[in-house]
Amino acid sequence: MDNIYLPKLITLDNSKEETPEIKSFEFSFENENDYKNFKFIPGQLIELSIFGYGEAPFSVVSCRNNKISISVKKTGTITCRLFELKKDALLGMRGPFGNGFPVKKSQKNNILIIGGGIGLAPLKSFITYILSHRGNYEKLTICYGARTDIDLVYKEDLANWPKEKDLDLHLTVDCPKDKSWQCNIGSVAALLSKLKINPDNTSAFICGPPVMIPYVLEELKKHKIDGQKIFISMERMMKCGAGKCGHCTMGEYYVCKDGPVFTLEQIQKLLTIR
Ligand SMILES: Cc1cc2nc3c(=O)[nH]c(=O)nc-3n(C[C@H](O)[C@H](O)[C@H](O)COP(=O)(O)OP(=O)(O)OC[C@H]3O[C@@H](n4cnc5c(N)ncnc54)[C@H](O)[C@@H]3O)c2cc1C
Ligand code: FES
Repeated sequence: MDNIYLPKLITLDNSKEETPEIKSFEFSFENENDYKNFKFIPGQLIELSIFGYGEAPFSVVSCRNNKISISVKKTGTITCRLFELKKDALLGMRGPFGNGFPVKKSQKNNILIIGGGIGLAPLKSFITYILSHRGNYEKLTICYGARTDIDLVYKEDLANWPKEKDLDLHLTVDCPKDKSWQCNIGSVAALLSKLKINPDNTSAFICGPPVMIPYVLEELKKHKIDGQKIFISMERMMKCGAGKCGHCTMGEYYVCKDGPVFTLEQIQKLLTIR
């Protein structure tokens, strides 16, 4: 059996600036077998280690052709060090951990994706999955917001996604920097109030800053989407990533093992819904 604490080696191939605070990083697996054994479900996480600095959890954005990518917001010790690393730097990686989004269970449903800021990272892997299994899902609606237009991640995808069949993209920012900004201004929750949603056949997937979540849930409640069909990706401080150390507890759950994706029904009591 594999030792879950032993990192697999990866090397930094390239990085791309998404916003002034967020970069996407692509790594190669040193050992091809590690790549072959790395089976991930959109929404799962890895523990990335920078030797001599420590480990931190990040959502997997993609994994293909011996490469794995993540998107990272500069926050503290590890993320700042990651931003400084040069091509070919050697890092460690453990995982994948967590449950991921219920990609099979939500087939034949309209999919409503709701993201804020860097929260689009795990959702992007699900969007990519849906687009490559398009016949299995009904309409795809993406609502995404950030503080300003400069803070929107994956600008290339945001430009290309609306060209896909049965895909509606709604963008919003709190405060546009670009004077020619033509999309919405305001919160992601406000976007939801304008949508027509069939609650019987819609599954909603949420990831974003904690402040966004209660407002989004309030709007989804108005649309009468069942709590079993609302999936929220949660963040907690993590260490082991594998349900052993207890760092990430949220009520009766370990976020790293039972989550990070929970239904609203599971965690309603633990959230402060206004
Ligand atoms: C399941 C999961 C998925 C994640 N996915 C991503 C991702 O795709 N991209 C990304 O940029 N970040 C993601 N994060 C958050 C990321 O793990 C933290 O930003 C990172 O651990 C910060 O490490 P650091 O050493 O740079 O910061 P530190 O020096 O450890 O901390 C800097 C500050 O950030 C706070 N902080 C650190 N981690 C967290 C956390 N998990 N929740 C709330 N506050 C925190 C600390 O309290 C401190 O105030 C995810 C977290 C989880 C739990
Ligand atoms: S991080 Fe150790 S139990 Fe979740």
